[in-house]
Amino acid sequence: MQVLNLNNMALRTTNPTATPAWEQLNAQFNSLVKSNMQQMFAQDPGRAERFSIRWNDFFVDFSKNIVDDGVMQSLYALAEQCYLTEAVEQYFGGEPINSTENRAVLHTALRSSTTAISVDGYSIDTQIQQAKTSMRNLCDEVISGSRKGYSGKPFTDVVNIGIGGSDLGPAMVVDALQFYKNHLNIHFVSNIDGDHVAEVLKKINPETTLFVIVSKTFTTQETLSNAETIRKWFLESASPNDVQRHFVAVSTNLEKVTSFGIHPDNIFPMWDWVGGRFSLWSTVGLTIALSVGYDKFTELLEGAAEMDEHFRTAPASENIPLTLALLSVWYNNFFGAESHAVIPYTQYLHRLPAYLQQGIMESNGKSIDRAGKKVTYQTGNIIWGEPGTNSQHAFFQLLHQGTKLIPADFIAFLEPLHGNQDHHDKLMSNFFAQTEALLMGKSAEVAAAEMRSAGLSEERIAFLTPFKTFEGNRPTNTILIRKLSPFTLGALVAMYEHKIFAEGIIWNIFSYDQWGVELGKQLANNILAEFNQTRNAAHDASTSQLIRQYCESKNGSNSLKLP
Ligand code: F6P
Repeated sequence: MQVLNLNNMALRTTNPTATPAWEQLNAQFNSLVKSNMQQMFAQDPGRAERFSIRWNDFFVDFSKNIVDDGVMQSLYALAEQCYLTEAVEQYFGGEPINSTENRAVLHTALRSSTTAISVDGYSIDTQIQQAKTSMRNLCDEVISGSRKGYSGKPFTDVVNIGIGGSDLGPAMVVDALQFYKNHLNIHFVSNIDGDHVAEVLKKINPETTLFVIVSKTFTTQETLSNAETIRKWFLESASPNDVQRHFVAVSTNLEKVTSFGIHPDNIFPMWDWVGGRFSLWSTVGLTIALSVGYDKFTELLEGAAEMDEHFRTAPASENIPLTLALLSVWYNNFFGAESHAVIPYTQYLHRLPAYLQQGIMESNGKSIDRAGKKVTYQTGNIIWGEPGTNSQHAFFQLLHQGTKLIPADFIAFLEPLHGNQDHHDKLMSNFFAQTEALLMGKSAEVAAAEMRSAGLSEERIAFLTPFKTFEGNRPTNTILIRKLSPFTLGALVAMYEHKIFAEGIIWNIFSYDQWGVELGKQLANNILAEFNQTRNAAHDASTSQLIRQYCESKNGSNSLKLP
């Protein structure tokens, strides 16, 4: 068992731009930027195979990137020169690598079957196992119908009340695993916007609904307001004693949950060493387990655990999360790419980009390095995306012919879940066609020849050729997975978690805090107090005039006219 010393400043501070590998990458960038991938493929028949990684049910082809062997070697060297191997052991070993909050980062322990880790001198294994047993018991009772609502009817609906990591992970996974779900209808209430909760309440019956309040801190305005609104609505038809049957909570803050009125037997513990955006593996995943059953939830954890093992032990050139992280650094820091698109070719993963936005941008959207100094280089990129093929009919124009370089992850599954092979062939043909088009483009000669064979006049061809030309040379990663299952989904999500970690190590930032979300919360509280006339605050002129519009609207004196 490892015993931690929380007084350690766990991670080393290394300026990546001062490493020999960075200098080498700069030189390599200057020569490679002039070449293009079409030539690289033409000159190197082994490229596709060499720049692909096979692992379990995953086939990751990163050959459609603007890299050669020399660049890849320098990128792997960069990881080593930033002490990545040492950092990986500190991460998995439970050292307090979240230094600004003095916490370990141990979501990996939640899915590990082998490690025996202690935090602050206490073993965490027992706590994890106890929490899992309580989760399993609740799931079994609710799914089987043996646990009943206040009027004696079995539960038909579950409402997850939470926001950020207490919403996005469960919501993404519940949608992703829809194929495997049971009879329970699952709803999510997250936004402080009262219309969100109102719309969910329209769909449910208090007699047959279980409410899961998820908040690591149990201080989050959105979650507490929504929970209170829902409890009030519930009490319009039920009695205060019924709250115990219908409300359960997931939190680290047992005192606050109890004072909200949740019975201690209905509290599922969370821990400081699990970050909100990495928490779906913990009791925060209760709604997931209710939706697919506890056994399938375990499969999700097992898939993630296999990816953990892969990240921890695979050599650099066969290491999927590390390779993807380094490619991201390459485009972010050398090509000046601002964003990264994630395009899943399955409707089931339609919430994955939103989930990754929190995971990646809340983690690596930092400008202060681990020494407390302002960084002099770019860090976390902007993540966005939508499922294919819908996104092809939306923003792909910009990917193909826009002025920006946008590296993209294309994710697809070899087998369709409902067995509709005809649709799947069409889906997959689009999937392969898009990355091919982004790589190969279409030359002016080919565009002109196509128009000529379609019978266009030479004058029209000359006019249209520039518009119909595609430069290509646009980088993509292809992530092919055999089949979408709890296991492979767990591995996919863990893959991105470790990518986040590796990028944060190289950028010399702390990935596991989120101070940047605090200021807005603080100012919102001040403004709310102004609405309630308990406080008078000074604002900039723009904010003052905007707040005035709202206050005038509330007191009926607003001059904005309805049409
Ligand atoms: O506002 C950001 C944040 O702190 C996230 O990091 C977190 O996932 C979310 O709020 C919700 O927090 P909690 O689970 O404590 O309600």
